Amino acid sequence: MGHLQAQFPRILRTMKRAIKPRTAWAITGSGHYLRECLDLMQRCSDVDLFMSKAASEVLSMYGIDVKSLRERMTCFRDTTASASPVGLFYHGHYDRLVIAPATSNTVAKMVWGVADTLVTNIYAQAGKCRIPSIVFACDTEPVMETEAPDGTVMVYPRKIDLENVERLRCFEFTRVATTFDTLEQILERTDQ
Ligand SMILES: Cc1cc2nc3c(=O)[nH]c(=O)nc-3n(C[C@H](O)[C@H](O)[C@H](O)COP(=O)(O)O)c2cc1C
Repeated sequence: MGHLQAQFPRILRTMKRAIKPRTAWAITGSGHYLRECLDLMQRCSDVDLFMSKAASEVLSMYGIDVKSLRERMTCFRDTTASASPVGLFYHGHYDRLVIAPATSNTVAKMVWGVADTLVTNIYAQAGKCRIPSIVFACDTEPVMETEAPDGTVMVYPRKIDLENVERLRCFEFTRVATTFDTLEQILERTDQ
């Protein structure tokens, strides 16, 4: 009986997981709205975090404590060629994927069907499992202010970067947010 009682919280957690699918939240190596996206993610319940290799590096550059993030939630880093956590998408663990912020690099790969990183792979697998994705693209205007580790700088996204965001809008099971407000609204609407 004591043994059962000790097991109970874990069983309950597993049952809850089975009943309520979670949100997979991916971050890429973007400084643009990085802090805001992390705050928003932590306000959502039942979230697991997926990080591109560049995201792991960029987080430290912005003074964000990756260790404490990993202590607070399940984090998957990009350490395997086959992106092994993608299997979770096939077993009903997730009912939506949020990629926020999404670099122009990740957007370009997704648009051309490339799935060779953890984040591009989970986007591809989410699509193949008909799980909706919400993508907050960084490069959305020809002239933008963005946050570098040492302060605000101007960036001028190229035509190809802007075109890829438009191309992504046409993808099945994909919503593209080009402002942070829109991202918040979509998340509210799709939160169960
Ligand atoms: C400090 C820093 C900030 C960056 N911010 C951005 C950004 O806002 N948008 C972007 O598209 N790339 C940005 N990059 C470049 C990406 O990290 C780089 O293209 C990387 O290869 C992206 O890999 P990923 O798409 O797999 O995360 C930044 C790089 C550094 C070092």
